Amino acid sequence: MKKVYLIGYMGSGKSAIGKRLSFSTRLPFYDMDTEIEKRLGMTIPEIFEKYGEAYFREKETEFLRSFRNENCIIATGGGVAMKRENRELMRSTGLVFYLNAPFRDIWRRISTDRNRPIVQRSTRSELEQLYDERLPHYLKAAHFKVETENRTLRQVTEYLAFQIGRLKGDI
Ligand code: S3P
Repeated sequence: MKKVYLIGYMGSGKSAIGKRLSFSTRLPFYDMDTEIEKRLGMTIPEIFEKYGEAYFREKETEFLRSFRNENCIIATGGGVAMKRENRELMRSTGLVFYLNAPFRDIWRRISTDRNRPIVQRSTRSELEQLYDERLPHYLKAAHFKVETENRTLRQVTEYLAFQIGRLKGDI
């Protein structure tokens, strides 16, 4: 095994679960958005505002191409699985878990968030449409689909830790 990638829509719990998983597996945790912010010295909304979304998407791919070669857990941004190159990079360098959550749970978590430019510029129904459009890409990218509905963070984390422990030697 090399990297563990957590993918899924905004607000699906990638960062919260990634941090817990890091604790229980003792693998270091990285949040892709935070790493890109550090590299560029700007926040995500600033990057979108100043350079546009296409530029940000390029930075995501650069991150996947170049990030250190170490066993670790990475919470990806919600748009990462949309590009074929990104899907291939993730699948060939680690284990990919798709965290699935119903849109109504997602909406509850993201609707008031100011740090997500896509949420800022979209209506609820646009976000729901994007959620539907992205689903097949998440499924293509993932080795595992993980249902989070009606499960605690702890239960989801335990499930992931179990799968990682089981597959450690295979990848
Ligand atoms: C995005 C999700 C965000 C961040 C950016 C774009 C997306 O990450 O990368 O705002 O396109 O879904 P989170 O999924 O961590 O919110």
